[in-house]
Amino acid sequence: MSKKFKEAKGITLAPLRPHLKWIVVGFAFFISLGSIWYTNNLVEQIREREQRQIEIYASSLEFLATASDNFLMIFDEIVSANHTVPVILTDISGAPEFHRNLPKADRLMGEEKSEYLNLEIGRMREEREPIEVTLTDDAGNVYGTKFIYYKNSFLLSQLTYYPYIQLSIIALFGVITFLILNYLRKVEQDHVWVGLAKETAHQLGTPLSSLMAWSEYFKDLYPEQKEALLEFDKDVDRLKVITDRFSSIGSEPQLAKFNIVDTIDEIVIYLQKRLSTKIQMTVSAFPGRDIEARIHQSLFAWVIENLCKNAADAMEGKGSIHISVLRANEGRIAVDVKDTGKGIPKKKIVNVFRPGYTTKKRGWGLGLTLAKRIIEQYHQGKIFVKHSEINKGTTFRIYLNG
Ligand SMILES: Nc1ncnc2c1ncn2[C@@H]1O[C@H](COP(=O)(O)OP(=O)(O)OP(=O)(O)O)[C@@H](O)[C@H]1O
Ligand SMILES: [Mg+2]
Repeated sequence: MSKKFKEAKGITLAPLRPHLKWIVVGFAFFISLGSIWYTNNLVEQIREREQRQIEIYASSLEFLATASDNFLMIFDEIVSANHTVPVILTDISGAPEFHRNLPKADRLMGEEKSEYLNLEIGRMREEREPIEVTLTDDAGNVYGTKFIYYKNSFLLSQLTYYPYIQLSIIALFGVITFLILNYLRKVEQDHVWVGLAKETAHQLGTPLSSLMAWSEYFKDLYPEQKEALLEFDKDVDRLKVITDRFSSIGSEPQLAKFNIVDTIDEIVIYLQKRLSTKIQMTVSAFPGRDIEARIHQSLFAWVIENLCKNAADAMEGKGSIHISVLRANEGRIAVDVKDTGKGIPKKKIVNVFRPGYTTKKRGWGLGLTLAKRIIEQYHQGKIFVKHSEINKGTTFRIYLNG
């Protein structure tokens, strides 16, 4: 388990997945290797056996040549016992005289048949060397030479490909299982997010209405405290915004077209008051300020707030945050949030959107997970680290639909 997934307030948010994935991949690799090795072994054994079988035929042919004039007929009888290995017997010039276990040749006649047999002889020669049979009579005089051509039986050729076909099917099955499990995991995560968000909004709702009522009551009771109570109202309003965000996360948010530059300006005004005075926030727009995007204002604000808070943390309270809006291809709108903070090491960039990944003492590692969810699921947009350089700064890019 990586130390970067820190144990926050006693709760481990560390995902085990990265390790588990490699263990499963390693295991699958060894099983595949074992299976291929085992089948190759079998193939080799059967191959040797088939070769020995043909060699026995060859020696029996040599033997029969001395014993009988009708040796070809007797050879046919012996070879009949072989139901698997395709064989062609030729004379010294290579003309086929006899064949076995070539069903296609049995179906053909005349010219076509000899053409096919010649083709097969070529193929067989590529696969295995033919066996030369020397025919001698009783007196030991050589009176002829024959060649036995043969190739792997159908069973053997099938067996050669078998592990690859088998492994492909298993791999396909594995991929399908992985996709289904991944889908189920996502559905489950959705349930947790939505359920938790809805419940939070619901729980906050009741005390919030009560606080609003109390504020009105105190304003009537202590008119001289109006100023203080207006500050109190601001906090209540903020709580209302938070409740609204949670309830939006818990339901299908309705997107609408807004001037994105104005929206960002408002967020910046709100944030500027809360961040250190040593942090300068600026906004720019290209080609002009008149850029609209389809957003859910309050959820989008949540994303920008999270990015700016991370930026402020990365700059340790001093530096500048620049947000630029520009029209991108295909009617999309790009929003860049650029800071002058400590940057993210290249290797760690893949981790930043993972739930539970944090490098902060008091972080939950949920800010960017939430931002990704809001942008990609609710806005059908994209969010990613566009650029990061150690001790120079980081730029996050968001794509929205226009
Ligand atoms: N602008 C940035 N510059 C440098 N590092 C960053 C930046 N933004 C995010 N990070 C890194 O990514 C991590 C994850 O960020 P994320 O917002 O998800 O969680 P967090 O800020 O640690 O905790 P919280 O849940 O409170 O937001 C951070 O801990 C930090 O290491
Ligand atoms: Mg954060």
